[in-house]
Amino acid sequence: MSERNYQVCPSILAADFNCLGEQIHILEENQIELLHIDVMDGMFVPSISFGMPLIASIRGSSRLFFDVHLMVQEPGRYVEEFVKVGADSITVHVEACRDVGATLEKIKSLGAKCAISLNPETSVEAVLPYLPMVDMVLVMSVRPGFGGQKLIPESLEKVAYLARVREEQGLDYAIEVDGGVTHGNLDEVVSAGVDIVVAGTAVFCGDIAENVKIMRR
Ligand code: DX5
Ligand code: ZN
Repeated sequence: MSERNYQVCPSILAADFNCLGEQIHILEENQIELLHIDVMDGMFVPSISFGMPLIASIRGSSRLFFDVHLMVQEPGRYVEEFVKVGADSITVHVEACRDVGATLEKIKSLGAKCAISLNPETSVEAVLPYLPMVDMVLVMSVRPGFGGQKLIPESLEKVAYLARVREEQGLDYAIEVDGGVTHGNLDEVVSAGVDIVVAGTAVFCGDIAENVKIMRR
């Protein structure tokens, strides 16, 4: 077992929306600090999930750190609204922005943390120019758009590379992995150098409190 420190960030995409507030409360009672919120626009990814009204609702009764993952084409159009409804961090995709730097600057200027994400088929070099600007890099370990897929092992090579670059360049972004993380592959994921592990199915399918304990070890 790897001894590296990491945080578990449950993705509400896999939650039961009929009792979302109660499920978030269980996470809070089990020392979870981060919540991953997947916004899908039906353009950048084939599916549509949820948006500002849902975030505003859960913000009213949760003090978790809201890690908002925008799978949205030209997300810069919406970042103000997402900050207003309670996003603490906003992740945009390098593939989705015409001007990536300007989009990240806009997020920062609103006082939120900013992060850049890349799809499995995107080369890690695509995010290099933005590393000095970001608080976090989100490495997609499945094709974005759906929960419950299998982790693509090659994504972990990107994690190791990003950890090396951080060291060499004296940068301080966190590295997050999103998609297909299970109890079975957690050790491999953490050992690659991940700081934040997103988990949807592995947390919300079955007994949430028990799953959180297993994922946090
Ligand atoms: C996929 C989303 C993920 C997803 C992860 O497009 O970005 O955050 O909810 O779900 P699991 O952990 O079930 O793969
Ligand atoms: Zn996500």
